[in-house]
Amino acid sequence: MEPLTEEEEALIKQVLPKYAEGHLARSVPNGYVLPSRVDMEAVADLEVYEDDIFIVTPAKSGTTWTQEIVWLMLNDVDLEGAKVNQFYRVPFIEIHGIIPPDPRSYPEGEPKNQENRVWFQAHSLEYIRRQKRPRIIKTHLPLSLLPKDVLQKKCKVIFVARNPKDVSVSLFYHFGLRDGLNCQDNDLLEHFVRLFMKGGITWTPIVPMTLEAWQMRRQSNVLFYTYEQMQSNLDGVLDKLMKFLGVTLTEEKLQQLKDAVSFGRIKTNPYVNKADELGASFIRKGVVGDWKNHFTPEFNKEFDEWLEQQLKGSDFKYVMELR
Ligand code: A3P
Repeated sequence: MEPLTEEEEALIKQVLPKYAEGHLARSVPNGYVLPSRVDMEAVADLEVYEDDIFIVTPAKSGTTWTQEIVWLMLNDVDLEGAKVNQFYRVPFIEIHGIIPPDPRSYPEGEPKNQENRVWFQAHSLEYIRRQKRPRIIKTHLPLSLLPKDVLQKKCKVIFVARNPKDVSVSLFYHFGLRDGLNCQDNDLLEHFVRLFMKGGITWTPIVPMTLEAWQMRRQSNVLFYTYEQMQSNLDGVLDKLMKFLGVTLTEEKLQQLKDAVSFGRIKTNPYVNKADELGASFIRKGVVGDWKNHFTPEFNKEFDEWLEQQLKGSDFKYVMELR
């Protein structure tokens, strides 16, 4: 990882004043912007198993939704068992790099409860090492930065893409919640989205990350789908997921799962909606095309030109709205 330039740090400061200098760094190789405290060497060396399931997504692309679906599928829709903070069930590899460091050693033998969650999260890699198999693991890291053996060992990789216009708006509100930004300020939103386009926001750039996965989509251990497909044809996505994971559910269980992961239920589910972490539910609007409520025609043109450059040479197309 290498530090960002002074100019980049200054730009970030203008939009996100609470970001400490040095909070972000750029991966070498591939130039992905990540929290600098993520232990990328330990991530690369993490021992993985063939039955591991990695949920790999650009942030704000339907990760939480997919995490809950996959956990319920693998646990025969155990709605009682799901009443545990999602981190404990589907840990997030790099979360240790975005929460304040904890000087305490691994919470050996401590209960996996709400009180100890941040303590376990500070040791997310160790938590994953000790997790019962098959493990379900969340990450916003691109495939090229995942533990070395994920693709060779044919771990299962689920990649969820989302159109970058909605991702950038969703991220703006996410940071807004966290850092007290004025989310009503459309000029601020444009500054933020420009920073996103420049790769100055955590876990960017997302288009190359998505294209990495798109190129691997035909590999039998990779399942690629989009947030927009989840919205327009959830049954189809669930069907693909069950086949991919080798899971069968009765009609009744499948219906229970669908109810449990509906927008309304996820939004009010305290084990999933991270309201305690962010101070408000980060399950926000849950629609395709909210960017149209925020992008002016001029800004949209600027974004489209940027996106065309990003997608040059690829046959992948984002869905910007549902008709
Ligand atoms: P919005 O901010 O556009 O509403 P992630 O989990 O990757 O951070 O993604 C968060 C986004 O997924 C948020 O988008 C959130 O509202 C949306 N989301 C979460 N659960 C959902 C569901 N059950 N149905 C529709 N959208 C959902």
